[in-house]
Amino acid sequence: MYNDNPTLDGVEKKIDEAKQGEVFYQDAGEEGGKKFYIESYGCQMNFSDSEIVASILGEAGFSPTRNMEASDLILINTCSIREKAELTVRKRLRIFDKVKQQRPGMLVGVLGCMAERLKKKFLDEEKLVDIVVGPDAYRDLPTLVAGAEDGNKGVNVFLSREETYADISPMRLDSNGVSAFISIMRGCDNMCSFCVVPYTRGRERSRNAFTIVAEATNLVERGYKEVTLLGQNVDSYKWENPETKEKVTFAELLVMVAEVSPELRVRFSTSHPKDITDEVLYAIRDYENICKYIHLPVQSGNSRILKKMNRTYDRPWYEQKVDRIYEIIPDCAISSDIITGFCTETEEEHKDSLSIINYAKYSMSYMFFYSERPGTLAERKYEDDIPLEVKKRRLSEIIELQNNISRSENLKDIGKTFKVLIEGDSKRSDLDFKGRNSQNKMVIFPKKEGLKAGDYTYVKVTESNSATLKGEIV
Ligand code: 5AD
Ligand code: SF4
Repeated sequence: MYNDNPTLDGVEKKIDEAKQGEVFYQDAGEEGGKKFYIESYGCQMNFSDSEIVASILGEAGFSPTRNMEASDLILINTCSIREKAELTVRKRLRIFDKVKQQRPGMLVGVLGCMAERLKKKFLDEEKLVDIVVGPDAYRDLPTLVAGAEDGNKGVNVFLSREETYADISPMRLDSNGVSAFISIMRGCDNMCSFCVVPYTRGRERSRNAFTIVAEATNLVERGYKEVTLLGQNVDSYKWENPETKEKVTFAELLVMVAEVSPELRVRFSTSHPKDITDEVLYAIRDYENICKYIHLPVQSGNSRILKKMNRTYDRPWYEQKVDRIYEIIPDCAISSDIITGFCTETEEEHKDSLSIINYAKYSMSYMFFYSERPGTLAERKYEDDIPLEVKKRRLSEIIELQNNISRSENLKDIGKTFKVLIEGDSKRSDLDFKGRNSQNKMVIFPKKEGLKAGDYTYVKVTESNSATLKGEIV
């Protein structure tokens, strides 16, 4: 899930807006020692990586601060998925530049996908940048910072086949103390023709299953109630124990994490339709604490476009997958990612993307118009031939339909009672709590004495709209 919304005046769905560039952590305050300030953009993986970076810097004697002006090191964890995401980062760099002018000696580092994509070019293009570090080189940060302090700008964009940061215990930055991310794999081997990720995050590799379970156990001990297992394609998780040669699949990993505690909710993202197995679906069905929610990006509802996108499934195959999910887990919610205006997409083919929303009854979708990315297969092989206005008009049709489907699906929840994990106060009123049900739908309800963030409660839904359910504790 990515949070660089396409700019489409007024019509785009605001996706996790609050998270955009969120700055989060326990502030080190006025304590001595060097301080770093970090902003994250893009997918959940980037937010999770920032916690690994924070841990590495913590070991090197840096402490986090929310106050950019008081920091010795500004880091920006960047996203390249669409052009818009990169433009946002460039804008932030202009702001950092102003701060840097007031604070000689301050360093600016660019991390993540944009660092990997542009490499050394970043230093030439953006004079204020001192350090450029790709997603697999974060262990080198303290050395690069030390070099930059001595006036040597540094770049490390080495992509690894092994690095999973398995042994690093992330510094929980944004913590609401209730939910946390656990990175279970890195990279992507899929080569969807529109996507820059395989180039910026490298080859797929899975993290040691025991360190994942240990991280989940540690979180439970610290009072956490929900973990989201993260990877570009979690269903292709496969780890071999080097000693016993035993293999752990994603379905097995899910069960291992679910068994850490029945009180711990387990979520995961993202699933590739081609890799999600019945075993995964059975695990979701059989464990109450594995959430009944699957993010299953379709990208397009048309078989010809799917082939051009190199998604390796066609529409009938995807439909069967959706059928199978609802057959095994009738109360499962499915969400999606959809791209409009991919190369050569016709009006008829666009209508297929509309009808797949209707077919799959997505609870929600992340929707984008196609943005050509340098170096991808599509950029090299196909012409980006759909005019921007057409892409945007198609996107607005997709968004409108998805909103209608979400609204009518949420209407069906009225009268139902859900187990909700309380996340904190609702945004609108501190008289209300917000939380999520297993299906990942946001539920708002009046507070009750004795309950707090991190508690489970049962809420009967009395009202709903396209984005939230409202109800009362029962
Ligand atoms: N243009 C538009 N959207 C894209 N995505 C990935 N690459 C592009 C692109 N070039 C979308 C896909 C993916 C999500 C994370 O971002 O829908 O699933
Ligand atoms: Fe990109 Fe496809 Fe990999 Fe997702 S599965 S990161 S869309 S290449």
